[in-house]
Amino acid sequence: MRPTRPVSSLSEDVARGLFSAPRSLPPKYFYDERGSLLFDRICDVPEYYPTRTESALLEEIAGEVIGHSQPARIVELGSGTSRKTRHLLDACDRMGCHPLYAPVDVCDEILVISGEALSVDYQWLDVRPLVGDYTAGLGNLPRREGRNLVVFLGGTIGNFAPGDARDFLREVRTTMSAGDSLLIGADRVKEPDVLHAAYNDDAGLTAEFNLNVLRVLNRELGADFDLGGFEHYAHFNPLESRIEMHLIAMRNQVVRLDGFDGALEFHEGDNILTEISCKFTRAALEELLVETGFEVDRHYESAGLKFSLVLARPA
Ligand code: AVJ
Repeated sequence: MRPTRPVSSLSEDVARGLFSAPRSLPPKYFYDERGSLLFDRICDVPEYYPTRTESALLEEIAGEVIGHSQPARIVELGSGTSRKTRHLLDACDRMGCHPLYAPVDVCDEILVISGEALSVDYQWLDVRPLVGDYTAGLGNLPRREGRNLVVFLGGTIGNFAPGDARDFLREVRTTMSAGDSLLIGADRVKEPDVLHAAYNDDAGLTAEFNLNVLRVLNRELGADFDLGGFEHYAHFNPLESRIEMHLIAMRNQVVRLDGFDGALEFHEGDNILTEISCKFTRAALEELLVETGFEVDRHYESAGLKFSLVLARPA
């Protein structure tokens, strides 16, 4: 999917994010093939409840969502392995509704692997993968007659800063017409201990995932980050209602990157913010949708109010 506006390159993001304080990197760089597969494994660790919770809820409501939205096409933003989406496709199967499926993801390897698997498992399914960064604009999303169901799962809306989340949803809204639906998943505010555990799993997969961004910089920018020199740190910030994930320098170190004049200097304890993951109240989530031009159709909540799925339509 061609971007509709210039999107910053990795080196521009690094120049902006690492060569000035406070240091940060956009979370999309986690997701090379290794990072996408690591994320998939995180979804299976016992502490990481969001995926399992969302998936179970989606399984429960899939029939109603498909019945209500009657899609001619399902567009999924950030489809990854499309594991949860299978609940929607199963419902389509049962209901004899055969929409086209357009998964959008930044990782082309994952799109190919999962697209092939889906085509085998759903003989009727026409998969039209789109490789691209959905934050680079949705203006080139192929147009299509009939109803669209836009799907944005995983709570990824939480990875945007609040203003960016609004801009993004407004843009999603502009791609939609009357009759279209949006299905969006969002993680809910809950006990800090539960949140903390979810981003600090015992198996260390989240730590591996976090450090993976340094591997990406080493490969893509010829950097010489020593992964042993950094540690994963994630905590819940109750004032911002979000998990903040960092990489912390364990000692003083100097990192060089091809094509950059100055080296990167880290002092022991310096940190790079690699991801925020905002947690919503029911009201905050609905307000976000209403503010960005949607009307809430159904608000589904998991048992224990751990996770929300909202079916919305253009207001
Ligand atoms: C991409 C939103 C599903 O914020 O929970 C998982 C990514 N980061 N563990 C999240 C993630 C660390 C994740 N989502």
